[in-house]
Amino acid sequence: MPWRHRDSTEVHGRFLCEPLWILCLSVVNQRIMTFQTAESSSTAKSELYDQLAAQISSLLAGERDLISNAANFASLIFHSLPDLNWAGFYFLKNDELVLGPFQGRPACVRIALGQGVCGTAALKRVTTIVPNVHEFPGHIACDSASNSEIVIPLMKGERLIGVLDLDSPVIGRFDDEDAAGLNRLVSIFVEASATGFAP
Ligand code: SME
Repeated sequence: MPWRHRDSTEVHGRFLCEPLWILCLSVVNQRIMTFQTAESSSTAKSELYDQLAAQISSLLAGERDLISNAANFASLIFHSLPDLNWAGFYFLKNDELVLGPFQGRPACVRIALGQGVCGTAALKRVTTIVPNVHEFPGHIACDSASNSEIVIPLMKGERLIGVLDLDSPVIGRFDDEDAAGLNRLVSIFVEASATGFAP
């Protein structure tokens, strides 16, 4: 499925953006890294997730701290994927989800398993796409701008350690390609990070 940016035009079935290249420079683990943000992306969605997988691998390389890695992960996702108003983590502590690093407006801190989209995805341990959150019974509205949502359980083997939650103001924003791409990114995050604190 072509990745369509809001300023894009369709040419031969591909959506091309204005040639606005935004490169970010940062020093991570003594290495200088460059990131091309989605603001300049004209790639297909799968290619964007390929790029993000490589960027996240580099960003997290050599760092095991769960909170630091979650913070950088949330920031990269929030600034790279279009049409998001919230991106972040909830971690499982004492059988409830507790807010972790995120980008976006302040959010509710604790969510019981089975409650809302996050708690439902965590309880069932399945990636959950909600095209219209207003039609999801029990949806927890942290930001009135949210209209659609995707939640990816974080699994360390058989053990649930939390969820990644993305919200969008666009109805129907997330599809199976997002689910596959985000699961890939989450696997890199879980593999790279020490998860010992989560009971
Ligand atoms: N909407 C979520 C709550 C978390 S916020 O969206 C950040 C839910 O229903 O579980």
